[in-house]
Amino acid sequence: MDRLIIEGGKPLNGTIMVSGAKNAALPILIATLLTDEPCVIENVPSTLRDLRTTFRLLESLGKKVVVEGSTVRVFSTGSLKTQAPYEIVKQMRASVLAAGPLLARFGLVRVPIPGGCAIGLRPIDIHLKGFEAMGARRIADQGDIIMSAPRLKAAAIKLRFPSVGATQNLMMAAAATPGKTTIVNAAREPEMEDLGKFLGRLGATVRGAGTSTVTIVGKPKLNGARHTVIPDRIEAGTFLLACAATRGRVRLQGAQAAHLGSVLAALKKAGAQIRSGQGWIELSMERRPKAVSIATKPYPGFPTDLQAPWMSLMTLCTGCAKVTETVFENRFLHAAELGRMGAQIAVSGRTAVIAGQECLSGAPIMASDIRAGAALLVAGLAAKGRTTIARVYHIDRGYEVVEQKLSGAGARLERQA
Ligand code: EPZ
Repeated sequence: MDRLIIEGGKPLNGTIMVSGAKNAALPILIATLLTDEPCVIENVPSTLRDLRTTFRLLESLGKKVVVEGSTVRVFSTGSLKTQAPYEIVKQMRASVLAAGPLLARFGLVRVPIPGGCAIGLRPIDIHLKGFEAMGARRIADQGDIIMSAPRLKAAAIKLRFPSVGATQNLMMAAAATPGKTTIVNAAREPEMEDLGKFLGRLGATVRGAGTSTVTIVGKPKLNGARHTVIPDRIEAGTFLLACAATRGRVRLQGAQAAHLGSVLAALKKAGAQIRSGQGWIELSMERRPKAVSIATKPYPGFPTDLQAPWMSLMTLCTGCAKVTETVFENRFLHAAELGRMGAQIAVSGRTAVIAGQECLSGAPIMASDIRAGAALLVAGLAAKGRTTIARVYHIDRGYEVVEQKLSGAGARLERQA
């Protein structure tokens, strides 16, 4: 298994290109199941592990996927299957998003229940209740959920929590269901807006995607479409935090400041200087960050996916900062690893209190999920001495060519097989 070896303590300095958003590309690629016509999706971070898993998922369901750099073409090869393989779902929970398009088109779908992961239990009850509101019946069988409905019906659905995945699943189901479906208390992340645009290009009428009320007027037969995925706000945020922690100066090319409002506000409070324009963000940081407490919230609140890297920055703050995780129940596994680097973090339930230190020291550490991995990367870049990160495959799920991108901005790191 690969490891990343980082010689830390060097300020990041330079320009880094931001890739297309993993969490927008995944549902958009899965939404190609809604049509038999060809689709072309651009700005896809196609080298990421989760994207490669998505291509395998589409192929296992009967699509042909052709990847050329960041352009992905999806074609039909005949009729689609309605059963997602457990082998793939267990590698990537987002595979459950295939349920919406398949159920709407074929009246039947069988998906393995994804199960929990390192950050929490992650049930899918909100997705299933939404499908039931559209007239589907469900039965559980040998670890799978089978949903059936001769024909889904448009419905008014109120989510008990603005779940990202449930909103996407229901938006996709509604796109292929005649009539007007309304989703209230929908997730508002920019990835919803991007999916909404793609569904519109397929021929559905979508209003309010990216707000808390989405309406979709679906069509049983949708056309093919071409679409360019939005930039990855979480990758961009991770690099900004790495820059702040190393007290460097970077320009992120391709990043959208509007998608990172809460993070940029917290960074400014911590003392970072930030400028932004159309498709770029620049950050410079000259001294130790001030302590800034955050609590994660659904968008537009502080993203849970940047909680761990934020904690890494706060290990170096002047003072004491509190980090509260409200979205997932177990997303603090990075705290103990940061402790190995000299960080002072006390975790109690969903809150971590961090007493800032002058510096961290390099150590052998281990990633436990994508963003915990990103946190260790941020800490390793800032720490004095050598850090070795094991289980890099977690980082590879969410960050394309990460060592090339960071070494292009002056970081010293390499991968060891
Ligand atoms: C998406 O996961 C992202 N994944 C996650 O990014 C991200 O952390 C999360 O949204 C929150 O922003 C993708 O987009 C592929 P949720 P998702 O449904 O859809 C509970 C990363 O690091 N919940 O909004 O699974 C759930 O347990 C990944 O790139 C239910 O209780 O997130 C969690 O506590 C990790 N029942 C909370 O809601 C449900 O039916 C948020 O989950 C659904 C969710």
